[in-house]
Amino acid sequence: MSTPRLRDKTAIITGATGGIGEATAKMFLQEGANVMLVGRSEEKLRATRDRLAAGKRAAISVADAADEKATAAAVAATVQTFGGVDILFANAGMEGIVKNIEDVAMQDFERLLRTNVLGVWLGMKHCVAPMKKRGGGSMITVGSIASVVGFPGLGPYIASKHAVYGLTKTAAMELGGLRIRVNAIGPGPIDNRMTQSLGNQMSPDDPKGFREQFSNTIAMKRYGTNEEVASLALFLASDESSYCTGGIFMIDGGFAAA
Ligand SMILES: NC(=O)c1ccc[n+]([C@@H]2O[C@H](COP(=O)([O-])OP(=O)(O)OC[C@H]3O[C@@H](n4cnc5c(N)ncnc54)[C@H](OP(=O)(O)O)[C@@H]3O)[C@@H](O)[C@H]2O)c1
Repeated sequence: MSTPRLRDKTAIITGATGGIGEATAKMFLQEGANVMLVGRSEEKLRATRDRLAAGKRAAISVADAADEKATAAAVAATVQTFGGVDILFANAGMEGIVKNIEDVAMQDFERLLRTNVLGVWLGMKHCVAPMKKRGGGSMITVGSIASVVGFPGLGPYIASKHAVYGLTKTAAMELGGLRIRVNAIGPGPIDNRMTQSLGNQMSPDDPKGFREQFSNTIAMKRYGTNEEVASLALFLASDESSYCTGGIFMIDGGFAAA
């Protein structure tokens, strides 16, 4: 039997109640990690933990991504429960409302930036000290194709995901000497709630047609799966990616190659 790829490691997963978050938690647990599931709804976190059925290797902590106190408490709870932190999967994020630049309301833009940008920064900020104690670690942020291209109607989301990539590169440069690696994942459309919401907003009368049209702009002509994204997160979390830092790893069926 092969050695589990995350044996003796502890991971924090934000947005653990969502499609990509839960699939990643499942894979990390299968590969031997302890996992702290972080989310904003205690009820959803409990349900996720129950589905994962990993006993004491999965714990939960309630934190809004943009709440610094709650994020610091989630990191502290991880150290207390599992003895340290090796991996941060900064995955919590929202798509927001689809509107052109001239129609976006201030509070909607701010809310999205708080979750998608400040949330990622806060996770990084509070994981540095425990990772230093461990002598290294891996931070994985969730960017998007929206980190590298624009898209009409998605100004706040696009701005937030470009910012995630910028933060990732900066953190990689600051933390490389401490053996803390920082990489971004850049998913294309993934077959889950978020993409459904975007399809419904972009094309309320024909979300199916929107999906078909969008799929045709992807080299592989299909949406990806939560599990495909989780596999990439697993590679970046594990020691197999020991010389990877500061990169954005696209997982988009070739969308951004166009
Ligand atoms: N789906 C895609 O096609 C796609 C493509 C590229 C990138 N991404 C990125 O992938 C990440 C995960 O999204 P997903 O696709 O798995 O969608 P999802 O199922 O909607 O998951 C989003 C997760 O983020 C959490 N979240 C949202 N706002 C939060 C807040 N203020 N505080 C704490 N948690 C919050 C959600 O919690 P609740 O369950 O409580 O709502 C949920 O757990 C996001 O960063 C997203 O931008 C997704």
